[in-house]
Amino acid sequence: MSNAAWGPLAALIGEWEGEGGLDTAFSHSKEKVLQTPYLEKVSMKPFGPVDNGSQHLYGLDYKTAMWRDDEENPFHTEVGYWLWDGATGEVLRGFVVPRGITVLAGGTAASDATDYTLRAELGGSQYSISENQYLTKHASTVSYTVTIAIGDGTWSYDETTMLKMDEFPEPFAHTDHNTLRRVG
Ligand code: HEM
Repeated sequence: MSNAAWGPLAALIGEWEGEGGLDTAFSHSKEKVLQTPYLEKVSMKPFGPVDNGSQHLYGLDYKTAMWRDDEENPFHTEVGYWLWDGATGEVLRGFVVPRGITVLAGGTAASDATDYTLRAELGGSQYSISENQYLTKHASTVSYTVTIAIGDGTWSYDETTMLKMDEFPEPFAHTDHNTLRRVG
């Protein structure tokens, strides 16, 4: 089968690396907002179809990891699935951040889209966020938005995670962006 069944996710299939990542987060060790450059390695493996009754989803089994400087262990990782429903144009990204957070973000896109946005909200009835008890009290993720842009042999993301943190009176924008180039 050609990759057409994966719709806009077809362009993400493969192994990817990007050195130009930039994270904005509140650092507890430095007690201030830090901009952190990072190296990222992403793997996206296609599977499908997954059938829910008359629905046929095509997906990517994904994992990603980020390192700063020459540290041995990544400081951020995600595992999850991207899913595409060709009948409705729905795109989903379900993933776990090992701080004790799960996200199911969703949106719609054309099958040949090169730009699209997925969202999730705390308490959202469709696309939502779950987190551990400590985070609910001290650093709650109230929303997650990611925009994907497909380039020529590359793709980029720009994401904003709004956090209700003890350290700030208003929700704080924890942001990340990177451009990944194909390495396999
Ligand atoms: C490229 C993606 C990401 C990177 C590189 C990243 C990195 C970081 C870093 C460096 C911190 C600061 C930790 C500290 O020094 O105290 C942090 C905090 C946090 N991140 Fe992320 N993050 C990413 C994505 C996300 C996403 C998608 C979520 C949730 C959906 C998330 C939720 C959080 C939370 C809740 C905290 C605060 C924890 C605390 O209060 O100590 N992050 N992240």
